[in-house]
Amino acid sequence: MKITIVGAGYVGLVSGSCFAEFGFEVTCVDKDTAKIDALNQGIIPIYEPGLDSLVSQGIKAKRLTFTTQLSDAVKASDVVMIAVGTPTRRGDGYADLTYVYKATEEIAEFINDYTVVVTKSTVPVGTSREIAEIIKKIRPELIEGVSFNVASNPEFLREGAAINDFMRPDRVVIGTNSTKASEVLQKLYRPLYLIETPIVSTTPETSELIKYAANAFLALKISFINQMADLCEKTGGDIQTLAKGIGLDKRIGGKFLHAGPGYGGSCFPKDTLALSQIAEQHGTKCSLIDEVIRYNDDRKLLMAHKIIDAIKTAGVNKKVAILGITFKPNTDDLREAPSLAIIPELLKNGMTLSVYDPLYYCGSERLGHAFNCERSLEQVRFAKSSYDAVADAGCVVILTEWNEFRALDMKKIRELMNTSAIPLFMDFRNIYQAKDMTEFKYHRIGQKA
Ligand code: UDX
Repeated sequence: MKITIVGAGYVGLVSGSCFAEFGFEVTCVDKDTAKIDALNQGIIPIYEPGLDSLVSQGIKAKRLTFTTQLSDAVKASDVVMIAVGTPTRRGDGYADLTYVYKATEEIAEFINDYTVVVTKSTVPVGTSREIAEIIKKIRPELIEGVSFNVASNPEFLREGAAINDFMRPDRVVIGTNSTKASEVLQKLYRPLYLIETPIVSTTPETSELIKYAANAFLALKISFINQMADLCEKTGGDIQTLAKGIGLDKRIGGKFLHAGPGYGGSCFPKDTLALSQIAEQHGTKCSLIDEVIRYNDDRKLLMAHKIIDAIKTAGVNKKVAILGITFKPNTDDLREAPSLAIIPELLKNGMTLSVYDPLYYCGSERLGHAFNCERSLEQVRFAKSSYDAVADAGCVVILTEWNEFRALDMKKIRELMNTSAIPLFMDFRNIYQAKDMTEFKYHRIGQKA
């Protein structure tokens, strides 16, 4: 079976290389010539553990190719997957479908024999139907059900764990009204039958909604535990034990109950906003999700003020060492990372920063833009290591739980901080225990300081 994947971004690359690993012939198409040239040499534009070797293996086995030419790939394919971006549309929070529509128009031109056009991109409910209409408008001679069908097949990949999530998913969702298309997609996922992956077969509408509902529910779960953490901080409760205490109830489940500085990333913020807009467009409301969005945005700023207030109370100097700026470990992705809200707010309030992140130790202009803060590069020093970052700081803040922050030499850190006042250590990912942090004024999320 031959597959074309349109869009060699995060989802396209991971899906493409994994389908090639399953044994299918995959062509990834992207308009970005530099990206395609690099990929053909095995150079991966994103950081994702395991992806480089999977891509190299696919290329070597001649099952994975990269091209800027859509025509030949689509003509030869049984399945064409749309995996282009659906960013938040400026101004209204709705998913911007420009790239999806453009890709569909181009695909339509080259549909040859029966082809299943699949949306892998996260798209609002009703988009699969729109895609079918676009194809029919461009190629009126094509008959839906005979020449082509459209299906929704959302991905649930987490950055940093995407290969494993693809190879061992909790479920696969296939949304189509066509038995023929459903059979083709079931064939694609046959390699997962061995590990008994549940397949949820449904309509395109339900499938499209499942993706948004899953992300919104997880964002809600995280925000719930973050609010419980706020309550623990006021009352003397302990959030980690609380999370365990509720998570052991199988109806609740222990995952995504880790309190932190607020969720970030390319999906939760974008998809919660889009879901809220979809609901409004259809004359209903996802008011719970509206509150999650508001609370999560506020929370990031609240974290900055927690640091500022703690520095004032402890009477330490205003130099803050930030450890970790990506929205989570094992990714170089800064999109909607809490650091992007916290760092400018700290700078605005007169703090001096030294920042260390395993993937950003050099610092770059890109970071200045990312922080959306012109003065950030003057006021932020990009350190070469955690120990380099903490030198002469009054306060250390862990923003991302990179593994290399889990066993820091606290004696060395205390010495390097070189302050007569007791320095502050703010652990926003709860990776240390208060009993091991006696040399600092230690703050955790969800525990009274
Ligand atoms: C998410 C979904 O998990 C995935 O299924 C979907 O396809 C894309 O969006 P991702 O954004 O890569 O994946 O990361 P995830 O591990 O879900 O974390 C998202 C954010 O939530 C991070 O900022 C993380 O730090 C935060 N988080 C996660 C918490 O604060 N607490 C938790 O318990 C879990």
